[in-house]
Amino acid sequence: MKIAIIYTTTGGTTRECGELLARELSGQDVTLFDMDERHDLSDYDVAVIGFPIRMARPARRAKRYIKEHKGELLTIKSAYYMCCGFIDFADEYARQALPCELYESALDITCLGGSLDPARFKGFDKLIVKSVRSEILGGGNNGDQRDDMALPTILDENISQLADLIKKSV
Ligand SMILES: Cc1cc2nc3c(=O)[nH]c(=O)nc-3n(C[C@H](O)[C@H](O)[C@H](O)COP(=O)(O)O)c2cc1C
Repeated sequence: MKIAIIYTTTGGTTRECGELLARELSGQDVTLFDMDERHDLSDYDVAVIGFPIRMARPARRAKRYIKEHKGELLTIKSAYYMCCGFIDFADEYARQALPCELYESALDITCLGGSLDPARFKGFDKLIVKSVRSEILGGGNNGDQRDDMALPTILDENISQLADLIKKSV
C-alpha cells in the first residue's frame, strides 16, 4: 500500500507530526511531502493531509489544496489531521477545511495536538503565540496556570490511532 502524507506548516509542528506518523507506519511505503512539492495523488492508495489552524481557520494553503484535489481525494482513501492550540474546536476546524463529501468519506479526521513554543515562530506569529501562551500560563485568578486550559503538546496516542486506522484500511 502506498501512502502519501502531505502537509503544510508554519512553525514545523504539522511536519513533525507527519514524520512521527510516517515512523508509526514503518513497514508501509510512505512518502512525506510538503504541499508545495511535486507529487501525483493517483500514485497513492492513501493520502493523509495535515494542516495547522491559524486565527480559528485551517491554513489557507491547505484549504486551497483540498479544494483543488477534491476529485482525486475522492477516488482514493483519505485521512486528515490538524495541529492546533485548542483541541476542543477540532471538529469545527475540520468542517471548515473539508467539503462534505470528503468529511463524510474520510478514513479519519483527527487532531494530533500542537505547540505554542514561541521559538518555532517568527514576527507576528511569535507575538500571537507568546500572548496566547501567557494567557494560558498566567491567566488564572492567582496568576497560576488556568485550570480550564493547558498548553498543547503533540498527542502520540492520536498518532498511533491514526496509524492503526490507516493500516486496517488496506
Ligand atoms: C498566528 C497564529 C494563530 C493561531 N490561531 C489558532 C487558533 O485560532 N486556534 C487554535 O486552536 N490554534 C491556533 N494557533 C496555534 C497553532 O495551530 C499551533 O501552534 C500549531 O501547532 C501550529 O502548527 P504548525 O507549527 O505546523 O504551523 C495559532 C498559531 C499562530 C501562530
